[in-house]
Amino acid sequence: MSLKHSPQSSVIRGNFLDITQTVTQANDIKNHVRYIEDGVMITCEGKITWFGTWDDGQPYLPQGVTVQHYPNELILPGFIDTHIHYPQTEMVGAYGEQLLNWLNTYTFPTELKFKDKTYADKIAAIFIQELLKNGTTTALVFGTVHPQSIDALFEEAEKFDMRLIAGKVMMDRHAPEELCDTAEQSYQDSKALIEKWHGKGRALYAITPRFAPTSTPEQLSKAGQLKQEFPDVYVHTHLSENKDEIAWVKSLFPERKNYLDVYNYYGLTGNRSVFAHCVHLEEDEWQCMHQTDSAIAFCPTSNLFLGSGLFSLKQAWDKQVKVGLGTDIGAGTSFSQLQTLNEAYKVQQLQGEKLSAFESLYHATLGGAKSLDLDDKLGNFNIGKEADCIVIQFNATALQHLRQSEAKGIEDRLFALFTMGDDRNIHTTYIHGKIAYTQKPH
Ligand code: GUN
Ligand code: ZN
Repeated sequence: MSLKHSPQSSVIRGNFLDITQTVTQANDIKNHVRYIEDGVMITCEGKITWFGTWDDGQPYLPQGVTVQHYPNELILPGFIDTHIHYPQTEMVGAYGEQLLNWLNTYTFPTELKFKDKTYADKIAAIFIQELLKNGTTTALVFGTVHPQSIDALFEEAEKFDMRLIAGKVMMDRHAPEELCDTAEQSYQDSKALIEKWHGKGRALYAITPRFAPTSTPEQLSKAGQLKQEFPDVYVHTHLSENKDEIAWVKSLFPERKNYLDVYNYYGLTGNRSVFAHCVHLEEDEWQCMHQTDSAIAFCPTSNLFLGSGLFSLKQAWDKQVKVGLGTDIGAGTSFSQLQTLNEAYKVQQLQGEKLSAFESLYHATLGGAKSLDLDDKLGNFNIGKEADCIVIQFNATALQHLRQSEAKGIEDRLFALFTMGDDRNIHTTYIHGKIAYTQKPH
């Protein structure tokens, strides 16, 4: 019973590892690890139509389709980056400041350049290449205040048929005048972008107030109005990253109970709301995150680089709040989710907690998908999901080769990969069933 040959089919054979279902307890993850040595994934028109062992898959192989075979590599679901700024690609590693001075000294001058669409096009192309070469197949992305920054990004993502979520920044105070819109203009511009891009191919839109200090109450109210008018778009912003920032929010919004209460008051919490950082949440804020089913983007390289603080994964599990992993380029220092997991592990160690390799895999894949309310479409190899996956080589350097040769089983191999790996380990990236990036022609 061979399926008919279809030019939109692909057959990928190799060693597959994923997590089969979402969980509410970290220690439940190991019960849902699926490792298939010599497996096969069959895709048609970008979706997984069959997945299992190579032997069992024989009857389903479409005729005339070349099998893409990776006998020595590991195939994972594509990585999901739940918080990143594409205009900050060029300013990774800006020296010496914590959040508020870092924004004024480095970030705002860089973001001014995105007024020019041609410039935005150039950086968008570099940005998407960096995602692909790091194995990131979906990201939730900040643009700048300029609507054309978002056109540039979605136009580039569309070339690869990538599932990308992005939005133009809304910002009407406490920033250079040229980088500010107004409450009304930000509403109009965001609405036009939603109508143009949300649901076009794999693009999705996020209403993106930068953070509470750079929006007037009028603008936050407009953001809430947009969310009411377009309930299935996302909300993406920053929350509780830095202690001076938190004090500033409290002085700007004295009538609100806490930082998160500002967003909650304006209708900006919910299951498609993603809050980057959440390093210093108060008890009431944890409760609100949980009750509203909002998600956190944990950004360890950024939190360390800007000296913001240590995020506790244990707290998030205890409070039953969803967590995805974010690189937060350019406060974060690497596009690589492998490097991000390396730092995530150390952030937990500094708090006396452990982060297992399988939990790391969960956060970078299915857990990230769940945080973005896309776990019905992304995050593992279940039949019917979108076929975004990455082929990983374990031995990208001599030191990795030595370490991997001593590894005991797949969990240890994975842990060493997450500790030592980077873009050199990403052999090939598949988007929607097609090769979007490969280190070598395959
Ligand atoms: N808070 C407000 N804007 C930003 C930003 O661009 N990066 C980070 N890390 N935090 C922010
Ligand atoms: Zn950020």
